[in-house]
Amino acid sequence: MPRKLTIKSPIDGATVGTVPRRSPRDVRAAYARLSAAQRDWEDVPRSERLRTVGLLASTLRKHRRELADLLVREIGKTPSEAEAEVLRTADLVDGTVREARRLRPETIRDRRHRGRVQTVDREPLGVVLAISPFNYPINLSISKLAPALAMGNTVLWKPSTQGSVVAARFVRRLYAAGFPRRLLTLITGRGGELGEALVDDPACAMVAMTGGTETGQWIARRAGLVPLLLELGGNDPAIVLADADLDLAAKHIVGGAFKLAGQRCTAVKRVYVVRGAADRLVRKIDAEVGRQFGSVGDPREHPIGPVIDDAAAKRQRRLIAAAKRQGARVIRGGTVRGRYVEPTVLDRVPHRSPVVGEEQFGPVLPIVRVKDVDEAVRLANDTEYGLQASIFTRNAPRAKRLASRIEAGGVHLNGPDQRAPDDFLFTGHKASGLGAQGIRFALERMSQPKAIVTNP
Ligand code: G3H
Repeated sequence: MPRKLTIKSPIDGATVGTVPRRSPRDVRAAYARLSAAQRDWEDVPRSERLRTVGLLASTLRKHRRELADLLVREIGKTPSEAEAEVLRTADLVDGTVREARRLRPETIRDRRHRGRVQTVDREPLGVVLAISPFNYPINLSISKLAPALAMGNTVLWKPSTQGSVVAARFVRRLYAAGFPRRLLTLITGRGGELGEALVDDPACAMVAMTGGTETGQWIARRAGLVPLLLELGGNDPAIVLADADLDLAAKHIVGGAFKLAGQRCTAVKRVYVVRGAADRLVRKIDAEVGRQFGSVGDPREHPIGPVIDDAAAKRQRRLIAAAKRQGARVIRGGTVRGRYVEPTVLDRVPHRSPVVGEEQFGPVLPIVRVKDVDEAVRLANDTEYGLQASIFTRNAPRAKRLASRIEAGGVHLNGPDQRAPDDFLFTGHKASGLGAQGIRFALERMSQPKAIVTNP
């Protein structure tokens, strides 16, 4: 078995780099080293610990061009998407440090016994396993590393294979900046070969993972009594009512659906529009795609790059073909060339079509026409997922009432689904996840409460 993995660019198949193909034995050795470092790290005073965590931010800023360039080549992001990811993540680290500095133990008094007091503080968990996805190799890894380290944990980081070159480069630059190697180990290799060793190790004190629902369910079944933070799939609906500002709705739906070639768990993945507004909305969406995402190609020259691999492109082709067979009208796009999927808008798609029911994770937007708001809500909820949703209407009280009927961890009113800013709570209901992200919430999740009771 070759001991290296060669990572190719989705743009043109050129080699981006190679990374070690680690084995289960390497995983066990990494856990042993991190466990050995854990105790000392817990004892480091908070101010010093947070200074060390701050190195994540300064390294990102210092090497932003190099990292962004790798994100373009390895993931197929546009340069502006890539640079935004790096800078946003540096801000997230700053925010994590600020928030962790503010954390104080909580005091609870026993009302029945004067002077009896419980102090609740937070302790580290141990070695946190961080598993990051291909679509945000920097942000969705460091959003785990920073809070884990800030709370005194050590980290074993397994990046997705596509995304492991940029991860390895970041870690190399971080070590060179003086970050202690013993606190963080990057383990690259095939998830299928390493998964059991990663999750089964007795030193694994927590799993924080962003990725597919199937993998999340596998981890949850296997991990036993350790805290989990899982951000999984999404099939986010946008609901457009008759009284909506249709220009605004079209702008946000299109941005939400096609950014990063639709490869975001929070992408708008299906639209439910009431019939009276449908013709106008479809026209506006079509025009808006032309304005924002007029062409697909090399992301250094076009607003939409490739999807991540051949399998993803094949899935888009299958979903588009099935929708067409079921009577959908292709308003725009519909063609897949290699890994390049034309931004595609499909109208009059039946709700039962797989392009509506599956998480397509590509630049394909199905529009379903509904008779009224109740039908929109019922169909929006007719999914195993529950990540986010958006509602477009000028009636604010109604929007809030509707939001409470949507089965999702977050609902955006008159705006696009998104996780940002990174201090907002971000969580998935149903098969979309477990636990909450967002700076403060992650700090809590990546530590355990400890109660000390003082008796008078
Ligand atoms: O792909 C999943 C990400 O958490 C989505 O993040 O809303 O910032 O694009 P985003």
